[in-house]
Amino acid sequence: MNQPTHLTIAVLQQKGGCGKTTLAVNLAAAAHLEGARTLVVDMDRQASAFDWGAARADGSALEGLTVVKADRALPLPRFREITRGYEYAFLDGPPRLGDVTESAAVAADVALLPIQPGPFDFWAIAETLASLDRADLIRAQLDRPPVRRLFVVNRTSATTLLAREATVGLNDVAGELGGAVYQRVAFPASAARGESVLVEPRSAAAEDIRRLWRRVKGGAR
Ligand SMILES: Nc1ncnc2c1ncn2[C@@H]1O[C@H](COP(=O)(O)OP(=O)(O)OP(=O)(O)O)[C@@H](O)[C@H]1O
Ligand SMILES: [Mg+2]
Repeated sequence: MNQPTHLTIAVLQQKGGCGKTTLAVNLAAAAHLEGARTLVVDMDRQASAFDWGAARADGSALEGLTVVKADRALPLPRFREITRGYEYAFLDGPPRLGDVTESAAVAADVALLPIQPGPFDFWAIAETLASLDRADLIRAQLDRPPVRRLFVVNRTSATTLLAREATVGLNDVAGELGGAVYQRVAFPASAARGESVLVEPRSAAAEDIRRLWRRVKGGAR
């Protein structure tokens, strides 16, 4: 149980409601269901991820997927202590920028950045990226490489012109595009029960999450 955490993924974006918690808990569920020791660190005072864990019924396939609260900025050694013994740690960030978001970006291997189609989220990215730039300066002092920046367009729909615009716009900013997760009722419906969309393994929503999870794990390209 003492090997270092294989991968720490921080889901960050100052824009509220873009899907940070939804993606963090569903990706954590994907990791857990693969048999990996997985931790969710809820860094938001609203504690949605923590409540999600608490809503789960006994006997769920997600039993053993641990959610802890840490809604303060933490230094890197403290993150290492909290995540020790887990193969994957997901840091669910708060809907604002500042020292909590920055400390998560210092600790993470991957910064997963959800954006909803449309100009408003796209504009909000610039400030989130500036926060990641500051985190990268701290990382450099700690001899850590820059955090990997992976965008995901969330709540998209095939018919939305704005989805395409957002994707095109992303080509201009520094980072990888990790694909899209579609707007699907299975996300809120499963979350309300402390579950993930993977309870219906053959659903389109489950396929979205597995595809994104492969991309997150798989490294660049
Ligand atoms: N792909 C999706 N399809 C349908 N609903 C979604 C999807 N992603 C997120 N939602 C819904 O959007 C709402 C906001 O999502 P979520 O709480 O994950 O965002 P957040 O970024 O964590 O918000 P906050 O910034 O307040 O922490 C929730 O009701 C969630 O169920
Ligand atoms: Mg949230």
